Amino acid sequence: MQNIDFSELCLHGKAYSGLTAEDEALLLVEGPRLIPHLQAVTDQFYHDLQQIPAAAPFLEGRLDALKTTHKAWLEKVVTGPYDAEFAAHMHKVGDVHVKVKLPVEFMASGIGFINRHLIPILAELYAGDTAKLARMIRAVSAATGFCLIIMQESYQSSLLAEELDHFLAISGISRTLFNNLAAAYKGVRPVAKTA
Ligand code: HEM
Repeated sequence: MQNIDFSELCLHGKAYSGLTAEDEALLLVEGPRLIPHLQAVTDQFYHDLQQIPAAAPFLEGRLDALKTTHKAWLEKVVTGPYDAEFAAHMHKVGDVHVKVKLPVEFMASGIGFINRHLIPILAELYAGDTAKLARMIRAVSAATGFCLIIMQESYQSSLLAEELDHFLAISGISRTLFNNLAAAYKGVRPVAKTA
């Protein structure tokens, strides 16, 4: 069972994606304007994925269901709030992809496709105000980047958990002993090596 501090993870995601308080405030106000366009973004996203042969086994027989969950996710991405609850949700979404064994490169690729289709919509909506258009492109890219960082964290945690299982299996150390050692070791300075 993973013990994750989602407030910490949320801060980490914001720091690494560059999602600022100014971006968040802008999206809270402007995000709802994008909602009527998100069905089209979702359809284009799955159209792009269908051009990649390796994606086919993950899409077969579940395209309609995926489109529904995906559109609901996109609404959250453009409207926020970008809080610990959202970070927990994104971590769970990442876990779902880990469980279906979706290769990790699809995460970055998927976010790239989404940005690719969101940006022309922004260009249309804010054609008369280039300063706001620039701020919106920055904010939307940071929000999708925030999701990517957190979903990648799910892959990373699962990899570490797998490595630990492997280590315990080959060393014969029980999980309880390992946990006790890890707890005792926390805060202990490594002993300096002598020549
Ligand atoms: C990178 C952006 C992506 C986002 C944000 C995303 C979002 C989601 C969400 C919200 C769910 C539902 C999670 C839940 O049940 O709680 C989901 C499930 C899933 N997604 Fe994605 N997805 C992405 C990329 C992809 C790609 C590229 C593929 C396939 C090539 C894919 C295949 C799947 C599959 C197979 C499931 C599980 C469906 C099931 O439970 O039957 N996803 N995704």
